[in-house]
Amino acid sequence: MSEPISKNITWHGSEVSQAQRESLINQKGCVLWFTGLSGSGKSTVARRVEQKLLSRGLYAYGLDGDNVRMGLNKDLGFSADDRAENIRRIGAVSQLFADSGAITLASFISPYRASRLAVRELVGEGRFIEVHVATSLAACEARDPKGLYKKARAGLIPNFTGISAPYEEPENPEIKLTTEDRTIDACADEIVQFLEERFF
Ligand code: ADX
Repeated sequence: MSEPISKNITWHGSEVSQAQRESLINQKGCVLWFTGLSGSGKSTVARRVEQKLLSRGLYAYGLDGDNVRMGLNKDLGFSADDRAENIRRIGAVSQLFADSGAITLASFISPYRASRLAVRELVGEGRFIEVHVATSLAACEARDPKGLYKKARAGLIPNFTGISAPYEEPENPEIKLTTEDRTIDACADEIVQFLEERFF
């Protein structure tokens, strides 16, 4: 991450440690980073994971592309620079959520490996779990839940991921999730099970 513009700022630490917060709520903060094409099922699976974790008494919170782009990132579009800035900001927000002890479920296309790696480094190895929602372009396009692929093919949306803008697949994700021919529940269960076995 680049240096802040101002030199006149000082880090002000908390009197409460992350470990103290975590022991209060009896869980470990982390970031589950869902990456994949538009329509791959990132947010849908993440929302189901969020619900399953809460029903087990675990505090989880979901952040997703379309929603964050209506608030914090409403000034950003889909150029390469804007996407990198989108992920830089949401990576910083996710790190804060994880530091507070939340199981943070971040669902963003995040097409660039370098951006995802920067978030991994910020959050810290061991607390960052990359979930590649590996639905194929053909399946995403067949689903086309928001009608965006149709518009992109017609040339109405420039820089559309998978059509006219790149998606760099993760090389070593902690979880590679196949969603085709599986229910949302089955996908969400795989992630909850991963957390139970490897994380809690
Ligand atoms: S990212 O590339 O910067 O990570 P993000 O996850 O925030 O993208 O937003 C993706 C969502 O924005 C898509 O699911 C889709 O609904 C919408 N969208 C609008 N324009 C585009 C575009 N050109 N490429 C991809 N998604 C787009």
